[in-house]
Amino acid sequence: MNAGIIGVGRCVPEKVVTNFDLEKMMDTSDEWIRTRTGIEERHIAEDDQDTSDMAFEAAENALKDAGITAEQVGLILVATVTPDQPFPSVACMIQDRLGATNAAAMDLSAACAGYIYGLITAKQFIENNAYDYILVVGVEKLSKIVDWSDRNTAVLFGDGAAAVVLGKVSDGRGIISYELGSDGSGAKYLYQNENDHIAMNGREVFKFAVRQMGQSALNVIEKAGYTKNDVDYLIPHQANIRIMESARQRLDLPPEKMSTAIKKYGNTSAASIGNALVEELENGKIHDDDLLVLVGFGGGLTWGAVAIKWGK
Ligand code: ACO
Repeated sequence: MNAGIIGVGRCVPEKVVTNFDLEKMMDTSDEWIRTRTGIEERHIAEDDQDTSDMAFEAAENALKDAGITAEQVGLILVATVTPDQPFPSVACMIQDRLGATNAAAMDLSAACAGYIYGLITAKQFIENNAYDYILVVGVEKLSKIVDWSDRNTAVLFGDGAAAVVLGKVSDGRGIISYELGSDGSGAKYLYQNENDHIAMNGREVFKFAVRQMGQSALNVIEKAGYTKNDVDYLIPHQANIRIMESARQRLDLPPEKMSTAIKKYGNTSAASIGNALVEELENGKIHDDDLLVLVGFGGGLTWGAVAIKWGK
């Protein structure tokens, strides 16, 4: 039996910052941001709403959706590059707040690919029969490390959290193939600089992402024994609509078969794929036995993809 997603939840901060709001803060335009990135608005956390607060809310919602109690969780994995502080981990902070008294807990750092890294790590423990239920949370408060005077990066990011509960699902369903990768030689293209701000060589990241996302998506489809014609829905990391479009085109998918949650949320790094998953479930785009491909890339450089047969 495969591990699969049996519950989802998210936390979307209330405050919305539109491209027009950004026009008042820096030399940019709604037209530039929309056409170059696909982003129209993003949600930004309040000063007193830290990463662990968003992670907690998303986790509570996922437990409720899965219909299990916090005590049943064996492991909590939190993917983030913006923890409240380096330690204790966000995972330990929410372990306590949830009352997950039987859970081990740790954070995981793989930038925007962190959610996929979390899913695949959890899959191993479930399929080894080490744990019955694992909570995976992707969460970021990127607004606290964005350089709000740098228009090259400030317009791209948003805050939020997305959580899933993994457990065993019926035969044929669940995470049926995966791929993970890294290339530390590309660390210089995307990192947190000496001022604690996000520093990025947008063009290099763009080239890497276009190359990697399509290829990783094709790899997991093939590993699962399917072809691209079998894919029902694609959820790429929501970083830039042009990068996402290139992945969609390599899979020969029509536009309606790819999530474009980026419009409303921007790039929420480790939360982006999980947030898009919840958004599209709510939009009725995902059905039992659909073949989904989730694919991400991020600073590190890192990447990862999963093929999922949806359903419990
Ligand atoms: N508003 C207006 N103009 C801008 C803005 C802005 N916000 N930002 C840049 N420009 C200008 C540039 O200064 C440049 O002007 P110039 O030609 O006079 O020098 C012009 O627009 C074009 O800049 P480019 O960098 O060529 O723009 P491009 O089309 O490549 O888009 C972008 C830039 C959106 C950053 C793109 O390269 C991209 O998406 N890269 C990948 C980013 C990404 O996915 N990052 C992932 C981070 S995830 C993580 O791990 C945290």
